[in-house]
Amino acid sequence: MHIIISLTVSFLAVFGLVVIAFVGVWGAHLEWLFGVVIPYLAAITFFVGIVYRVIQWGKSPVPFRIPSTCGQQKTLPWIKRSYVDKLDNPFTTGGVVCRMILEVLCFRSLFRNTRLEFGDGKEIKYKSAKWLWLGAMAFHYTFLVVILRHLRFFTEPMPFFVKIIENVDGFFQFFLPTVYQSGLLLGAAVTFLLLRRIIDGKLRYISLPADYFPLFMILGLVTTGVLTRYVFKADVVSIKELTMGLVAFHPVIPEGISVIFYIHLFLVSVFFAYFPFSKLTHMAGVFLSPTRNVSNNTRVVRHINPWNYPVKVHTYEAYEDEFREKMKDAGLPVDKE
Ligand code: HEM
Repeated sequence: MHIIISLTVSFLAVFGLVVIAFVGVWGAHLEWLFGVVIPYLAAITFFVGIVYRVIQWGKSPVPFRIPSTCGQQKTLPWIKRSYVDKLDNPFTTGGVVCRMILEVLCFRSLFRNTRLEFGDGKEIKYKSAKWLWLGAMAFHYTFLVVILRHLRFFTEPMPFFVKIIENVDGFFQFFLPTVYQSGLLLGAAVTFLLLRRIIDGKLRYISLPADYFPLFMILGLVTTGVLTRYVFKADVVSIKELTMGLVAFHPVIPEGISVIFYIHLFLVSVFFAYFPFSKLTHMAGVFLSPTRNVSNNTRVVRHINPWNYPVKVHTYEAYEDEFREKMKDAGLPVDKE
């Protein structure tokens, strides 16, 4: 039952946002609010929120190494370490950097994800599970490409790499305007990630509106983006005037921009404002994750808690001095007679 509630609440929340933007622009002509005020507020919330979260994480004490449990730690010279151990359990900063690069660019820990299965009911088996990794890679890389392509709305002249990405992404020109595969693949990847949560019973059990909402939100972004480009064929020249006005802090609302663009922009704004307070901030958090960003040299360097203060302790010797006679009477062994 809770899945139906979570799904409905998340879907209705996104649908409600679409209705708000539609009524606001089409009915009430609040183009300034949806085209300028809300995007600015969202951008401020995004940057302030991310900086706040990173500062909070940065202030959290990490007095000790959190050794990764995978891989052989560097120890006595005759205990061998393979190159995988050096990545899993890096001893040097160079090793940590390599681990982080592979984590961020290739989602290495997700690649090593396993699935637990009960064989024929008697034994537990761990099986390789690569679909999530594949879906996550497709999702994140297509998202990145879509965002980079959007730079054409915010730059003049457009950076050379955006043109290259556009050419590669729009390689199959079977439609006008050119179909960008990354946008469609992004939609497919989000749908896969959503269905995975709905179909798999174990995942369904642990999924909350906070998991469904971002997925519906991104689906909403892709759908409205695709509609803007391919169905309503919005006036890109006027849209660029608006977006360039926003980045130059000389906001303008040109005539003739269709409502679908404002709906897309409103969803983007809510998405960015929501970002720092949601699980989506893992984007910034990965760099502050102690299991990823510290080297494991605990057998070579003694790490002392920097804010250790002298603690008045009751040593065992003092305890025994205090209770020796009583311990003897009770027949308990004592160190000193
Ligand atoms: C999280 C951020 C965003 C996502 C995921 C997103 C996604 C998309 C997608 C998938 C498309 C379909 C075409 C394509 O593949 O490029 C699209 C189109 C479009 N998006 Fe976005 N978008 C985002 C942010 C923005 C922003 C900030 C703006 C402008 C202020 C914007 C304006 C547009 C416009 C004007 C189109 C139509 C493009 C055209 O006709 O060439 N989008 N968006």
